[in-house]
Amino acid sequence: MHDIIQALEAKRDAARQGGGAARIEAQHRKGRLTARERIEVLLDPGSFVEWDMFVEHRCVDFGMAERRVPGDGVVTGYGTINGRLMFVFSQDFTVFGGSLSESHAEKICKVMDHAAKMGAPVIGLNDSGGARIQEGVASLGGYAEVFQRNVLASGVIPQISLIMGPCAGGAVYSPAMTDFIFMVKNSSYMYVTGPEVVKTVTHEEVTHEELGGAMTHSTRSGVCDRAFENDLEALLMLRRFMSYLPASNREPPPYRPTPDPGLRAEPSLDTLVPDNPNRPYDMKEVILKTCDDAEFFELQSDYAGNIVIGFARMEGHPVGIVANQPMVLAGCLDIASSIKAARFVRFCDCFNIPILTFVDVPGFMPGTAQEYGGIIKHGAKLLYAYAEATVPKVTVITRKAYGGAYDVMSSKHLRGDVNVAWPSAEIAVMGAKGAVEILYRKDAGDPQRLAAHAEAYGDAFSNPFVAARRGFIDDIVMPHDTRPQVCRALSMLRGKELENPWKKHGNMPL
Ligand code: HXC
Repeated sequence: MHDIIQALEAKRDAARQGGGAARIEAQHRKGRLTARERIEVLLDPGSFVEWDMFVEHRCVDFGMAERRVPGDGVVTGYGTINGRLMFVFSQDFTVFGGSLSESHAEKICKVMDHAAKMGAPVIGLNDSGGARIQEGVASLGGYAEVFQRNVLASGVIPQISLIMGPCAGGAVYSPAMTDFIFMVKNSSYMYVTGPEVVKTVTHEEVTHEELGGAMTHSTRSGVCDRAFENDLEALLMLRRFMSYLPASNREPPPYRPTPDPGLRAEPSLDTLVPDNPNRPYDMKEVILKTCDDAEFFELQSDYAGNIVIGFARMEGHPVGIVANQPMVLAGCLDIASSIKAARFVRFCDCFNIPILTFVDVPGFMPGTAQEYGGIIKHGAKLLYAYAEATVPKVTVITRKAYGGAYDVMSSKHLRGDVNVAWPSAEIAVMGAKGAVEILYRKDAGDPQRLAAHAEAYGDAFSNPFVAARRGFIDDIVMPHDTRPQVCRALSMLRGKELENPWKKHGNMPL
């Protein structure tokens, strides 16, 4: 018995040492924490329960029979964040570069299976050289087992990926199927093929960072939802992020009391919208002044800035916010912003998070780049997502709501529950200038007449009353009264029940 206990302790020690002191030192020199250190920061102190510490790979090729490390390059188990159950896997780069063997994959699958059964989120901390090269197809099979579970768990439990080192090749597709991807700046990278292969195939010369670093994916590809300065910041922010999400699709998102009164008026909003309809203003100011404690967890802030997405709370209850941003491309909808917002709307809908939409949209972005890029199909994603969503939907039109974009942005017609407009709202097919240029083409050479027509059109249509008369908006509210109005609406909607017709699944325009 004594021998077994000693052997047990020795194995535990070996597992805790991962790839050994030198490799841990190398990890630290790169400014990275080890797999276990990361879990310690992420979870509540002392809450982590580790599983499968003694699992080893079964490979005997390439001298691997003599190279076994207990745990096999991934630390798995469960614990809590602010007392709430979370399942975690954290890849250990010090053990075979965190590469994924069959056994390593089985460990990940085990926590995923438990998370699905228990209805609790899975957080993956990725730091891996990809498929364990010595194992070949066994490793590929392991990846596919993870992918399959990602898909089955999608919409059932939140799945979050934090990329903290390499994530290359097919390995990127597990994070890609999770709900959110966070990255660490100058330390993590994701790509389907690395710089060497890129050079051979396309003759492009590109660094790891340029090809798949956090900045690339936060500004160009939209793959990364948020990038953080270092491991510590990323893990602490992830703790905060989890406070907005429910444990599963069977639960409401977590309530957190706030001292911020729901009926707080915000007089400064009354002067925010400029008189000139072509002048921008910052929609984030509206968001911050409306939500609890001016706390807004923005996602993808450096990508498709013409739409703003993120989480906030209203009277302590999480909401997903989607808002056109007049400061970027006048807030128009284009391919990137439609996709960005559509995925976010769908996440909120999966997980019972009400959607608060702020609208100031002049329409869809014109041009060959957009048409050739498929704006028809991609714009339809956002339309589809809003139309399909059954969570409470509250919409505030601050200024322009033109054309098809008016319909798309959580309009009454797409089952918007409560839709209000500020007095500055212009809900119409298009702006007055564009409208009269079409309606009065015969007067094209007469700017004075056109101006008169535009003024008449503007008086008739560039206001919220036409929509209000039809009940397309429920009320016209003063900007300073936005927070009270939204809080009342969300409170009224808390027990909302709405179901879509039964189907295997819809066929959204992908
Ligand atoms: C086995 C691996 C490994 C791998 C790294 N190591 N990647 N072992 N399989 N995939 C080992 C190294 O041999 C080394 O072992 C240790 O991890 C650290 O690696 P280094 O190369 O010294 O580290 P670094 O210089 O930081 O470079 C990291 C790296 C590089 C860029 C990730 O290791 C690398 O290019 N690895 C291979 C990446 C790759 O091609 N993976 C397959 C992708 S295809 P020692 O003992 O020396 O410390 C794929 C398909 C998935 O993943 C398909 C799913 C459908």
